[in-house]
This record gives sequence, C-alpha cells and structure tokens, in this order.
Amino acid sequence: METIYKKVDINEIDLKVLEEAGELLRNGDLVAFPTETVYGLGANALNEQAAAKIYEAKGRPSDNPLIVHVCDEKQVKKVVRSIPDNAKKLMEKFWPGPLTIIFHKADIVPFATTGGLDTVAVRMPDHKVALKLMEVSDMVIAAPSANTSGRPSPTTAMHVKDDLDGKIAMIIDGGEVGIGIESTIVDVTGEIPMILRPGYITRNMLEEVVGQVEIDSAITGPMKEGVKPKAPGMKYKHYAPKADFTIYEGENIRVSQKINERALKCLEEGYKVGIIASDETIANYKYGDVVSIGSRNDELSISKKLYRVLREFDDKNVDYIFGENFESEELGYAIMNRMLKAAGYQVEKV
Ligand code: TXA
Ligand code: MG
Repeated sequence: METIYKKVDINEIDLKVLEEAGELLRNGDLVAFPTETVYGLGANALNEQAAAKIYEAKGRPSDNPLIVHVCDEKQVKKVVRSIPDNAKKLMEKFWPGPLTIIFHKADIVPFATTGGLDTVAVRMPDHKVALKLMEVSDMVIAAPSANTSGRPSPTTAMHVKDDLDGKIAMIIDGGEVGIGIESTIVDVTGEIPMILRPGYITRNMLEEVVGQVEIDSAITGPMKEGVKPKAPGMKYKHYAPKADFTIYEGENIRVSQKINERALKCLEEGYKVGIIASDETIANYKYGDVVSIGSRNDELSISKKLYRVLREFDDKNVDYIFGENFESEELGYAIMNRMLKAAGYQVEKV
C-alpha cells in the first residue's frame, strides 16, 4: 500500500486534507494524526473491521483496548452508557486535554475496539487537527499510539513513517507534539477514581477536582506474577529500546561519576554507549554518545524529548543506555513511569 503523506499547518488547516482523511476513515482505512500527547493511529471506532486493522498494522495483541477520541459532548454520549458525576467534573476541567476517562461502554461500541471489555476509554485531545478531523469526518476515532507495538510512541510524523509506512492509508503531519508522553488514564467506573496510567495530568491535579484518587498498583513497580493491571496495555513491555538500559539514582555528581565509569568500561569492551543527561549535567560526561533530554527546571522539555532520544539510540544501534533519574511529584512521575518501563526497572542506586 502506498501511504499518502500530507503536511498541515496547524494555524491554517487545509480542510481538503481532513476531508480526504475522513473519506479514508469512512472506508475503514487507517489514518495517523497528531494529538498534543503523541501521534495516534486512527480508525472508525464503531467499525469492527477497521479496529481490527489497527491491531494488524501495529502488531498489537488484540486484548489491548483502544482509546476512542471525540471532539464534543455529543460524541461522548454516543459511546458511553452514562456519565458519572466525577467524570463530568473531570471533563469540564481537563477536556480537551491529555486525560483519558474510562466509562461503561454503550452497545454501539464493538468489542473489537474495547479488547473485549465492557468499558470504553474516551479522550478529547487538545489538538486542532485531531478535533477538526473528528468534526469533519463526523466520526469517533479509535486511536492507539501510532508506533509498531513495543517501540516508543511517535512524537513526530517521521517516527510514524519509520514504523508504519506502507501499512496504513495516510499520515497527517502536524509537526512535533507538545507533551510527548501518552495521556493520563483515569477509571471513574468505581467509587474512588483510579489512575491506570500516569501522564501530564497528575494525581494532585485530579484530586483538586474529585477528591481522593488512587493509583493502580500495577504501575508503581515491576508487574508481579499473576497481577493484572486494570489497563491491559500496561502489562506489555512498552516503550522498550533495543539497548540494555539502566537508570542511576542518587546525587547528580555521583550519578555522573558512576555513569562515566560504566561507559568507559563498555567502550573499552567494544560496545556502543548512549547517555541520557540533562542540560544541567551534560558537561559532566566524558564518554559515549551523550544527549541532553531537557532541563530539570522544565519537565515538559524532558517529556517532549524522551521518546525521540530512545528512538535515536535505537537507530544508532546503541548497546547500552545509561540514564539519570527525573523523579518528581509532578510530570516527573509519568516520565519515570515510562523510563522505568523502558529500562525494564533496572535501577542502580549510587
Ligand atoms: O495520549 C494518548 O492516550 C495516545 C493518543 C494517541 O491519544 N493514545 C494512546 O493509546 O496512548 P494506546 O493504545 O497506546 O494506549 C491505550 C491504553 C492502553 O494501556 C490500554 O490498555 C488502555 O489505554 N485502555 C484502553 N481502553 C481501556 C479500558 N476500557 N479499560 C482500561 N484500560 C484501557
Ligand atoms: Mg501505545
């Protein structure tokens, strides 16, 4: 299949491009599009065959449900059975935005979209191109991240092309995304809202709106045998680079020292080494391919670059990645969730 590739200027959206995309979606074909978090791989959420194509293109296990993207409240009502009070409050405060909410699904949503579950994940993205695409096509769009399963989520259209060229009908290029890691997922079907995946919208931000919020135990550490995460996707080793990735925790100076030691040793043994540093520490490193992932004073600069850096190390066939720790109570929590998964929870305290 020849993948159509179209650029759109976010300040002057060419509706013809979105109409063409809408036509393809109506035909049951796949269209990748930008959102504020990562690029999504879209299909008509209410068409079983179209949803099935997503799993095939990504090589994704079919028990891993998709997020249904909507552009207005009318579309929300179409796909959910009811809207609990907590959900109403969250929608009002955070939509459009990087928050996915789990509802009981309406009958119209096929199990192919929800991975066999009776619930549905819904999100209204804060991105003009995405919103306009749903409006123009008059369609709710199921979209996982537009990467091959097991690779980092795409933050540019080029990443999508690298993974899915020839496998999908169209890629809409709307430039680099603003956040760079996937949306926060919160389940409001129980009494106390529960975070199933951390993201830009933090626990504190949610608690300000709905009171106590819990965190699914499956996301706080490596998965124990037999424990099932509430978001099925969290059980897969997502976001994994090819290299052996270790995160170092401790005082900046000691972390840099330790990484320098290990990097030198690996280089002497003939391996390729990548180092994830920050603007504040990059000058400390002497060996290997050293990349600053952003400034410690600007967590958004870090989340935005994380997946790009991991992809670049993949492209360079790096054997070992050594990374600093970016833990915090805000966005750093979600950043570390992704980094720890990418590292298979290999952490060394120094
Ligand atoms: O930021 C995002 O959310 C991006 C953009 C494209 O919107 N999408 C995204 O989709 O990250 P994906 O498919 O890569 O991740 C969806 C996650 C998976 O972990 C899946 O298991 C979970 O959402 N999920 C979907 N439906 C669910 C449901 N009904 N109950 C629990 N978890 C669900
Ligand atoms: Mg994904």
